[in-house]
Amino acid sequence: MLVLEGKAKIKTDESTFYNPKMRGLRDLSILFLNAMDMKKYSLLDATSATGVRGIRYVLEAGAGETTFLEINRKAYLNAKKNVSQNSISASVLNESIQQFCNTNDESFDAIDLDPFGSAAPYIYDIMKVARDGTLLMVTATDTAVLCGADFNACVKNYASLPLHNELCHEAAVRILVNYIAKVASQFNFGLEVKLSIANLHYVRIFLTLRHGAKGAVESVKETGFGTFCSKCRSFELSKGIVPRLERSCKNCGSEAYLFGPLWLGKLSDAKVVDKMRASAPKQLEKGTLELLQRLDEELETPFFYSIPKITRLLGIGAVSREKVMQILKKKHRVSRTHFDLDGIKSDANIREVTRAVKLAAKA
Ligand SMILES: C[S@@+](CC[C@H](N)C(=O)[O-])C[C@H]1O[C@@H](n2cnc3c(N)ncnc32)[C@H](O)[C@@H]1O
Ligand SMILES: [Zn+2]
Repeated sequence: MLVLEGKAKIKTDESTFYNPKMRGLRDLSILFLNAMDMKKYSLLDATSATGVRGIRYVLEAGAGETTFLEINRKAYLNAKKNVSQNSISASVLNESIQQFCNTNDESFDAIDLDPFGSAAPYIYDIMKVARDGTLLMVTATDTAVLCGADFNACVKNYASLPLHNELCHEAAVRILVNYIAKVASQFNFGLEVKLSIANLHYVRIFLTLRHGAKGAVESVKETGFGTFCSKCRSFELSKGIVPRLERSCKNCGSEAYLFGPLWLGKLSDAKVVDKMRASAPKQLEKGTLELLQRLDEELETPFFYSIPKITRLLGIGAVSREKVMQILKKKHRVSRTHFDLDGIKSDANIREVTRAVKLAAKA
């Protein structure tokens, strides 16, 4: 089947993976690369399948010398054809990430890692083809694991205790970044996280690796732990490699659940997201534009409050999120969040948010 996506013309077949629903994320990745202002950078599309990603990065986002890896022979042959039919000169290899990263001396300006399921098994090898300033883009589709639906799998794959409640998507992103930060630090890389997304069935992180022991240690110090109280929806966070948190909820005294380790640093770079939004073409899918708008508005504050969870707790009917936001805005910073359509990010604590919800219900 012939598919036209962006400037790429791609042939797919039954043995090569191609998901049209991920087009929006590929569009966002292109906006991101353009917002980073990189020119003629070397690119590794580490999990190419049809090659659509790398081909589009070359045609639409200034990628120069590009290497495509694909472990599956039939998919590799398909990618090779697609690369040549799009008149791109690139190296397309029927090699695994592990094989390539352990035998090759090159390093890349940008690396895209988009495997089936978990990205965790590949991060260590990927670090071997990174250098100071490498832009790493990672997709994970094992969201059920990262979101705590399979607790033991999260412990096993990420060495983290997950959340399995309204905050789970943000926790998923932060658990994955924590994992990358810890592996990267072994290679003396620190992280500058540029953009993080949890949407549909995927988590996607865009980050720059900075070489140096000091930065690596600083990155590890941006990780930490949290507690969550299921009685009053309150959470507490604390950076550091050991959990320094009370196990009884500061707000209501109930026993709180400990989660982490997870990344508690910044999840995005506002300048980059602003640029992406400003340069987004009108013909972008509606859902992608909306996602970008929410990402751009979102406060940096870790985690958020789900308004429906609070109204249920109070035993009252639905209240308008906008009204709650207006009330909080008088004294606090507040924004919507892309992690939850009914959630708000704020520097207010649970008591202040609960008070605002009650006021909004009366208004
Ligand atoms: C989710 S698909 C990639 C989709 C593609 N990036 C896109 O946007 O359409 C993952 C691909 O990675 C390949 N793959 C799996 N394990 C691999 C490995 N260890 N090394 C290289 N490729 C691998 C799979 O065969 C599959 O084609
Ligand atoms: Zn509580």
